[in-house]
Parts: sequence; C-alpha cells; structure tokens
Amino acid sequence: MKNSFLGFLAFWLYVSVTAQTIDIQARGTKTSLRGLSVVDNQIVWVSGSNGTVARSTDGGKTWQWMTVAGYEKRDFRDIEAFDAQTAIIIGIAEPAVILKTTDGGEHWKLVYENTAPGMFLDAMEFRNETHGIVIGDPIHGRFFMAQTTDAGNSWQELPAPKQAVADSGEACFASSGTNIKLLTSGESCFVSGGLSSHLFWNATPGPLPIVQGKETTGAHAVAIQNPHQRKERTYLVVVGGNFNADSVSIQNCFLSKDGGHTWIAPATPPRGFKSCVEFIRPTQLIACGTSGVDVSADTGMHWKYISTESFHVCRKAKKGSAVYLAGSNGKIGKLTWTDKTQP
Ligand SMILES: *[C@@H]1O[C@H](CO)[C@@H](O)[C@H](O)[C@H]1NC(C)=O
Ligand SMILES: *[C@@H]1O[C@H](CO)[C@@H](O)[C@H](O)[C@H]1NC(C)=O
Repeated sequence: MKNSFLGFLAFWLYVSVTAQTIDIQARGTKTSLRGLSVVDNQIVWVSGSNGTVARSTDGGKTWQWMTVAGYEKRDFRDIEAFDAQTAIIIGIAEPAVILKTTDGGEHWKLVYENTAPGMFLDAMEFRNETHGIVIGDPIHGRFFMAQTTDAGNSWQELPAPKQAVADSGEACFASSGTNIKLLTSGESCFVSGGLSSHLFWNATPGPLPIVQGKETTGAHAVAIQNPHQRKERTYLVVVGGNFNADSVSIQNCFLSKDGGHTWIAPATPPRGFKSCVEFIRPTQLIACGTSGVDVSADTGMHWKYISTESFHVCRKAKKGSAVYLAGSNGKIGKLTWTDKTQP
C-alpha cells in the first residue's frame, strides 16, 4: 500500500511534459459556431449562424444538429446549457431575442425580445443555475445589460445607472460569448473593444492596454482564475487583437493579478488574434482564434502554439475536465492531453 503510493508519487513527479493536441470531431456544416457550453464531460452544446444549434450527449462522439424553427436565418452567438435538455441561446439583432429549450432542442420558447434599433446582444453568462446576465452593444451611449433571476425564463433590463457608459466608438465583440464574467460575490466584469477598450467592473471602466483605436481592434474575452476571489484579488487574463490582421501578436494579451488595477504583458504572447481564453486547470490556459490555438502552463506568462486550426471559442466543462472548441464551417474540436514521460 505504502510502496505503491510512493511509486505513484514518483511517477507523478516524473511526468513533467504534457502535450496537447486538438481532435476534430465535426466539420462541414453551413454554420459559423461562436456559442459553446460544456455542461460536463459528456454533454456539450454549440450554437451559430443559419439558426443552428448542435448537441452531443456522448462526449462529442456523435452530434445532433438542429435548426431552430422560425429562426432559420438567425445568428446565435452564445449558448448556456444546464443539462442534456435545458439550454438558452441569444440571437443578436433586430430583434434581439433570447430563446430557451427544456426538451433537448425540440422546442424553443421566446423568453425575451427587444426590437429597439441598434440592439445587438454580444454575450451571456450565468453565475449559477438561476442568476444570469446578458450584455449588448451600447444603446444611447450605455452598454445594454439585462439579467435573469429565474433560470432565464424572464429577463429584466438593468436601470440606466447600472449600465456602463461607453466611449464613442467603443462596443463589445460577439465573437465567443466570453467577454463578460461573474464572481460569486455578485460582481461582474466585462471587456470592450473598438476605438477604445476597457475592463469594466460592474459599470466602472478601468484601463486596458490591449491594442485599440480601430473598429477591428480590442478585447474579445476575459478569463478569471477563481470566481470566489474578491475583485481586487482576481487573476484575469484578457485576449483580443485586430481581427483584420490576425497574424499580428502585438498587445493581444494581458494578465492582471489584482483585478485589472495593473496589467502585465506575457513574456511570450499567444500567436496572433485571439477571440477566446479559458482556464482549463488552475494555472493552465487555452486561447483560440482564427489564428489557431495556444496553451499556457504558467498562468499566461508563456504561450505555446499547438494548432493552426481556426476556432472562435474554447470552453472547459463546468462540471468536468473536458475542453471543446468550435469555429466556422461547423468545426468542433476537443483538446486531448498526452502526458509524456521525460526521457
Ligand atoms: C448559411 O447557409 C447558406 C445556404 O445554405 C450558405 O450559403 C451560407 O454559407 C451559410 N452560412 C454560413 C456562415 O455557413
Ligand atoms: C445564485 O446567485 C445569486 C446571487 O449571488 C444568489 O442570490 C442565489 O441564491 C444563487 N442561487 C443558487 C441556486 O445558488
């Protein structure tokens, strides 16, 4: 007993090189996938353009593709799934809609609609099964925000003073549904882009040194290491870049150990434009974009380019370790870990 435990310990210490590869699980469907929600290691949902949603309940071996009836031309840029039966999708614009299914995608119920001109929903995030938030581009100079406290069955727009004020030419990107995050304390943070780019806590903007100044520049995603931390202690990683120059790696990623008070540039940044970043183990991260996929083993200080495959979004299982990616042309990938023993 004791010996085998020591043997296990020695083996564990010996395994110091970990390689990651991406297995492509699906491609070729006429949809650009930007919504991804991984419930556990078996249940995964994706959403995208052309009214498309897909679901796997066997760890990505098989996928059920569906078109949301009545919404065949809509672009569902984000999805939040709770189990094999229940999921919520956002349709971005004119009108902006939020739909919910409780029967695995057979029927979708309209739970929110906003016909205001200029409405454009970017991302949705849930704190737990009942409390969630959705963010959209600025309307009358304030970022649109609405919340639910009943598992997405109804949504209430936040009062104007609780909606952050946007600079001229500042908006959010709807590229991966990951530009807003919630702490368990109830506080929210989100990142913006365009002519200027900030990290907002609740409705208060703070500086963000990511590339900015053009409509195509700015931050696309923020990852938080531990949602139970206090805001001032939160370890954040932000990615973005210029999506019209996706091979440029300048000012495309920043880290903060103090909730965005001070920012650190990685010693080796991820390669090119990145639209999504996610913690996959306590100090390990994955980031993806049209430029390919990078991983970091040291909380974002050094990044390693592991795949040239283009993806818009990468997410880890909420309850589990599986990591999936999704992108254009119905492409779905899964991250595979290969622990190699040091020679
Ligand atoms: C949506 O479907 C149409 C018609 O099949 C196709 O031409 C188009 O490329 C699709 N859009 C995407 C983003 O795949
Ligand atoms: C979800 O979070 C809210 C806000 O923090 C809290 O009031 C509520 O009790 C939580 N619900 C559950 C089911 O944990």
